[in-house]
Amino acid sequence: MTTDTQQILQTLKAQLNYHGHLYYVEDKPELPDAEYDRMMQELLAIEAEHPELITADSPSQRVGGKPLGAFEQVRHEIPMLSLDNAFDDAELTAFEKRIRDRLSAVEGFTYSCEPKLDGLAVSLMYENGILVQAATRGDGTTGENITHNARTIRNVPLQLQGAGWPARLEVRGEVFIPKDGFEKLNEKNLKKGEKAFANPRNAAAGSLRQLDPKIAATRPLRFYAYSVGLMSEVFGDSHIGRLAQLKMWGIPLSPEVKKVDGLANVIAYYQDIMTRRNELPYEIDGVVIKVDAIATQERLGFVARAPRWAIAYKFPAQEEITLLQDVEFQVGRTGAITPVAKLEPVFVGGVTVSNASLHNADEIARLGVKIGDTVIIRRAGDVIPQIVSVVESRRPDDARDVVFPAECPACGAPIRRVVKEKKQKTTSKLVEMSISRCTNGLNCKAQLKESISYFVSKRCIDIDGLGEKIVEQLITSGLVKTPADLFDLTTGDFLKLDGFKELSANNLVSAISVRKNVDLDRVIISLGIPEVGESTSKAIAKDIGSLQRLAKCPREALILIDDVGAEVAGEIYNYFTSSSRQQFLTQLSDKLEISGETEFVSADLKRKSTLFHYFNQLGIPKVGKVNAKKLSDSFKSLVRFSSAEYMDFVSLGFNSTLVSALRNYLNDSTKLELSNLEYSLREVGLHWEQDVPMDIFEHDEPKKFEGKTVVLTGTFNYMKRNDIKALLEDMGAKVSGSISKNTYVLIAGEKAGSKLAKANDLKVVIWDEERLWKELGENQ
Ligand code: IVH
Repeated sequence: MTTDTQQILQTLKAQLNYHGHLYYVEDKPELPDAEYDRMMQELLAIEAEHPELITADSPSQRVGGKPLGAFEQVRHEIPMLSLDNAFDDAELTAFEKRIRDRLSAVEGFTYSCEPKLDGLAVSLMYENGILVQAATRGDGTTGENITHNARTIRNVPLQLQGAGWPARLEVRGEVFIPKDGFEKLNEKNLKKGEKAFANPRNAAAGSLRQLDPKIAATRPLRFYAYSVGLMSEVFGDSHIGRLAQLKMWGIPLSPEVKKVDGLANVIAYYQDIMTRRNELPYEIDGVVIKVDAIATQERLGFVARAPRWAIAYKFPAQEEITLLQDVEFQVGRTGAITPVAKLEPVFVGGVTVSNASLHNADEIARLGVKIGDTVIIRRAGDVIPQIVSVVESRRPDDARDVVFPAECPACGAPIRRVVKEKKQKTTSKLVEMSISRCTNGLNCKAQLKESISYFVSKRCIDIDGLGEKIVEQLITSGLVKTPADLFDLTTGDFLKLDGFKELSANNLVSAISVRKNVDLDRVIISLGIPEVGESTSKAIAKDIGSLQRLAKCPREALILIDDVGAEVAGEIYNYFTSSSRQQFLTQLSDKLEISGETEFVSADLKRKSTLFHYFNQLGIPKVGKVNAKKLSDSFKSLVRFSSAEYMDFVSLGFNSTLVSALRNYLNDSTKLELSNLEYSLREVGLHWEQDVPMDIFEHDEPKKFEGKTVVLTGTFNYMKRNDIKALLEDMGAKVSGSISKNTYVLIAGEKAGSKLAKANDLKVVIWDEERLWKELGENQ
């Protein structure tokens, strides 16, 4: 024995006492169970080697904590034991070998397999069938009297059913809070401004420790029995038989308890429960395996605090402790900047984890995490690993604050911070969260890369064979500046990249070209507008019916689409304000053969697009539904409303508060906004008034393109393509995205591609830009 060993022992004891107190007494554990268990194992190992160093105050001498002062103490006539653990099949096999050797048995055993409920061990004492006392396990010998609280647990019978029970019967089992009850409890607590519980077990422990049973009664506590303690008359010769008997007396059991023959079937049971773990209505942290025959149990007996005849086969820990080495900031497809925790690799939930999402700046603030901190990370099922909390007592002196970048870490462009309402996964509640976005659109290489990967993915354009490495090379070589550029790539372009041969390059080019025919809704998903997924894209395609119309559609009209709320409408609108994305859109309509585009917006959308709706939407002070109705009935157009004078309002009988609110509202910029809105609505085919002619929209000329289908392709010098399109539409043209034999004319700007070739094939009339202006000049 060295002084070093003593020193280590001293530190371990102090740590275990500190964390044990937090866990058992305060219900505020700071460390994951696995780390606590490890320290305890270390202590036990040292004490086993140096029994002379064991002191009465060693945490090994008292598993659990002191009962809280105010509770009456209860001595367990038969001690409440704990269980040895196994963490893999080999340890489980070793368990069986131990007992087989001890009994010189050749055959395997029949076992009782049970979920290891993650709650608190409780003893219920029944005298003549009446519940007379309930106690916590405490240190195994002495617990706390919690009869007043146990009586509030709804599935604990206060009186046994049936007959034939021993005069004194002690039922042992686990008190826990089911997952759904836990979520509701936390929601309720947060609403009341109280703190949320970290997990269902803490919530159950906290509830049983209440002195006032009225509090426990409001908590969704449940009890499942797993064994019998004291019994004045012995009954049953198997564990499962005893549990079945308890059930007949009205005691609840977990429905997962199963009688299983042989170790291979035990392993199958473990695997099955593990795969269903997340669907079970309560938390479990493993399975408990018990030799079923009571006679065999008795022959095997106990060692120290645990029976030889049972073992807990634990699941891989879902929470572990590790170091936060750094925080990196990743830029996603929509420009959202996500802090990613770089962790010292740690095995948790069955895999090695070295990254965890920190979500956003709010999350970093909430956790109060610093670089260099010891953190608890959790990986449950297939869920992305999360940082749960920080072990502040282990913070090093040189821990550094996490500094959110002031500009995009990929391209250096300014960042915009937006606050959004998000549905919280666990509680479905709306919570505010801030998102920082790079404002550089597709000019940001990181956004471009993610946008391309998204564009080619299965749910979008679905192009096979464009892996991350290739995408990166396409970007750095400058071959691709928007996802639409993919359609221009040639075999020669791919041959310039690493690892391509003639055949593979050819294959990729044709894999891309076969995807040129796309349904409109798929094109809309592929744009990568935040929040616009499959069903929203379908709804948009159905109602708006064309890519160009979508780009021009004002927010106030977008929210009329099913599935599109104010937030999504804002996202769509913002998306098209970026010039790089407008360019992308123009390229797309050029390069793709989009099917499913319609000539007009849907009848459904038109019906909903009433002037009343817009007056109601605009947020004009003092204008709710009633006044929106009055305004729409009176003015019949936003432009006419915007040019209304004081007397107009008065003569319509509006009261003075409303009149002055309207006059204040109508300043130069809102007037402009209103006429822009009306113009944009009209442009996408959403106009409501027939009876009131409006000068600005009137055409004196006969409509040159009435009923004719025109296609635009390439780039134009004198006017933006969208404006040309609007002009043609004003003259009655139907501007379509694809050439057919019904096309009246193809107007081809510079760098026209496949559409030009197709028009030639179909012998469609082709004008260049000069010819277009000439043609228009005759009428304008
Ligand atoms: S039997 C003598 N069965 O696990 C055997 N325990 O680590 C004593 N637990 O204190 C326990 N589910 O709180 C047993 N089906 C189960 C259990 C179970 C959960 C808990 C119990 C015990 C701890 C031991």
